[in-house]
Amino acid sequence: MTTSQVQLADFDFEKIGVALGETPRVAYAAAHAYPASAPAYVEKVCAERDRPAGDALRLYVHVPYCNYRCSFCFFAVRVGAQRDEMQRYVRALRRELEWADAGTPLSQMFMGGGTPTALPPDLLDELLGSIFQRLPSQGDNLHVVEASPESLTAEHVAVLKRQGIGRISMGTQSLEEEVLGEVRRRHTAQQTLDACRLVVDSDLLLNIDLMYGLPGQTHESFRRDFQTIADQGVQSLTAYDLRLNEQTPVARSLSDADRLELARLVEWRLFVRRTAAELGFSQTRWHTYKRLDTVAARHKRAPHHDSSGRGFQLGIGMSARSHLGTTVYRNHERSPTYIERIESSRSPVEHVIELREDDRKTQYVASTLGDGQPLDAGDYNRVFGNSIDADFGEPLERLLRGGLLAEAENVYRLTETGRLLYDRVTFNFYPPRVLNWLAARKPVMGMGLTT
Ligand SMILES: C[S@@+](CC[C@H](N)C(=O)[O-])C[C@H]1O[C@@H](n2cnc3c(N)ncnc32)[C@H](O)[C@@H]1O
Ligand code: SF4
Repeated sequence: MTTSQVQLADFDFEKIGVALGETPRVAYAAAHAYPASAPAYVEKVCAERDRPAGDALRLYVHVPYCNYRCSFCFFAVRVGAQRDEMQRYVRALRRELEWADAGTPLSQMFMGGGTPTALPPDLLDELLGSIFQRLPSQGDNLHVVEASPESLTAEHVAVLKRQGIGRISMGTQSLEEEVLGEVRRRHTAQQTLDACRLVVDSDLLLNIDLMYGLPGQTHESFRRDFQTIADQGVQSLTAYDLRLNEQTPVARSLSDADRLELARLVEWRLFVRRTAAELGFSQTRWHTYKRLDTVAARHKRAPHHDSSGRGFQLGIGMSARSHLGTTVYRNHERSPTYIERIESSRSPVEHVIELREDDRKTQYVASTLGDGQPLDAGDYNRVFGNSIDADFGEPLERLLRGGLLAEAENVYRLTETGRLLYDRVTFNFYPPRVLNWLAARKPVMGMGLTT
């Protein structure tokens, strides 16, 4: 059965619910982004990051500034900062970057936040200039910078283009003025369209983020938004379901009928896929839809770890995560402390997770299924030296029985239903101690939340 033929009535949600078991009620990151999705960090103040052997690094740069705080957002952001603070922060990022040897090849840079274009163009220029000077770009992976409609100016676009950025990823979430107001975004639909024009005219690639499951949204309004965005000539669009954190203000404005429980989530995901297909976009990852006739289709996210879970990603900035070798490090989540640490030549790291073997096995399964790839029992055996049945026999069997996975010749694949619920499937491969850690967490703001 292909997605276009599937109807909601075809799903036996009781059986699916039994196969999936409990889903953690706290949201930190997408479920297949393990261990970011379950950040059971241990405090290790000023821990030094180990340099992994090997060549290239992937770089994440966290720019926390925003012009407002959206009611659904639990990222580490700062609203209302003045230029002085931003300037100190940019200097701190440049110093932190000195951790990497000059000349280390850069496989890909992703600058997110927050909203990098909330920085004045000259500071963004200074920051990007020092990144590419220290870490020369290697290969043809695109470097990506996030933006928001009201902050992006022609000067920003000129800087990004000159510095060799390949794609701007701009949030807008909705083009309905009422929805934008409800989630406390302070820009209009027209500002989004104007910003799209700026980027499309510059020949930079443009990705737009939409969300579904926001208060006041309907299938019809979402379809209208998608259509309008498609008409602007964007090459790709990400459509995220609202990951609901109960402590964020949006939780109070959502009625029970708005919440994305199992059936509603499937209904939305089917609807989004169909809408995308009708508008000429193909699903390339779970949330990502691209026009395959554009150059955007060729570009992929560079990996940040190998198949055995050894990482080569450096993250700089407050709250940024580095995954180096078998350790995940997280910087201090408050900007003043982050800046002070860097200015006094101390490590900004505050927390670490030493990935044990069971973590790396979870990461392997979660990222394989999470990327829509076949999970080959033979490959698993080669990487970890033991059988996948010995480690995950029970969840595999349960998910097969529930019709979420299928198996042929020792290769497991998500079924159509499994694909629609890939994130819920993934939780079943978490180590029990991590599920217990998640269950013990009150649904509170994600680590890293600052104002
Ligand atoms: C860090 S923001 C970058 C863009 C920019 N700050 C903006 O919002 O316009 C990245 C994207 O994460 C998504 N996002 C933020 N909070 C979310 C949540 N609770 N659930 C799902 N997606 C979320 C939004 O689509 C947002 O555009
Ligand atoms: S969604 Fe974007 S603009 Fe809104 S608070 Fe989060 S990072 Fe800032």
